[in-house]
Amino acid sequence: MADKAVLAYSGGLDTSVAVRWIKEKYGYDVVTFTVDIGNVANLEAIRLKALNAGAVDAVVADAREQFISDYVWPSLQADALYEGEYSLATAIGRPLIARLLVDVAREKGAVAVAHGCTGKGNDQVRLDVGIGTLGPDLKIIAPAREWGMTREELIHYAEQAAIPVPVTRKSPYSIDENLWGRSIETGVLEDPWVEPPADVYAWTRDPDKTPAGARYIEIEFVQGVPVGLDGTRMGGVKLVETLHAVAGEHGVGRVDHVENRLVGIKSREIYEAPAATVLLKAHAALQNLVLTKDQLRFKALVATQYSDLIYNGLWFSGLRHNLAAYVEDTQRFVTGMV
Ligand code: ARG
Repeated sequence: MADKAVLAYSGGLDTSVAVRWIKEKYGYDVVTFTVDIGNVANLEAIRLKALNAGAVDAVVADAREQFISDYVWPSLQADALYEGEYSLATAIGRPLIARLLVDVAREKGAVAVAHGCTGKGNDQVRLDVGIGTLGPDLKIIAPAREWGMTREELIHYAEQAAIPVPVTRKSPYSIDENLWGRSIETGVLEDPWVEPPADVYAWTRDPDKTPAGARYIEIEFVQGVPVGLDGTRMGGVKLVETLHAVAGEHGVGRVDHVENRLVGIKSREIYEAPAATVLLKAHAALQNLVLTKDQLRFKALVATQYSDLIYNGLWFSGLRHNLAAYVEDTQRFVTGMV
């Protein structure tokens, strides 16, 4: 029996071709892994697609609650906002994906892990570092970084290999979504003089078309973790989805930022993060009420460092662990438990 590789699979053209390409190039049987962190409409459809593309096995998981409780809430407690603008949605999803990929690799006895990142962005580094930390013995394959195929060549490859080509039109942007936010880049956005075209936005209403008047929401925090809205207790996913709808309707959460990438270049990014924007503001305001001036000053330093760690893919690092302990401790002050 051939050795196995576990491939992070989105159901798109690149990762569908990767299923076959990995088998051809490396001889591995491919097990796909697809995780929903608020980015997948139909896991079952993707599972079938993976098998159609030639996967020997296709694993899917709904990790939305885990994403919110183990990754998003700690980053909120830390006030993580990269360069004061980006609430880190894409970045904070990567360590979870790395962890689950390694778990599936262990479960299936795989020798390699593969992902669809190109060589241009931050995400490849986050996944490589996360996988390398948790599974140093696993070989990492990034087909899109190796194969050098254009989109046309990919489509041709898919047709030759009888892989059903997704009929969706190619978006003019590169988009990544999860529960914490939506990241949009490339295309005309690379020119910072260009005002983002209306089709960039999908989660937030145009500020000209928002309802008149203010909408008040009461958010209940326990040790920096939001647990309820307007007097109703609810779980993390429900809370984020509820705030997302309300804030998005009011046009809250649009960010237009030229960001300093990990790989050394500047990059113009648009983000939509309605729930994250409200929660980060509310959490900061709450802390401002109850922490001392010195605590606030120091926490801001920690927040910068913590954001950089998340952005740079260093979630599974000693320093992140140390900072998390500090952050947890300050949250006890916020709730009056010290
Ligand atoms: N620049 C952001 C980050 O590094 C967003 C990346 C979005 N990824 C994408 N494939 N569109 O976290």
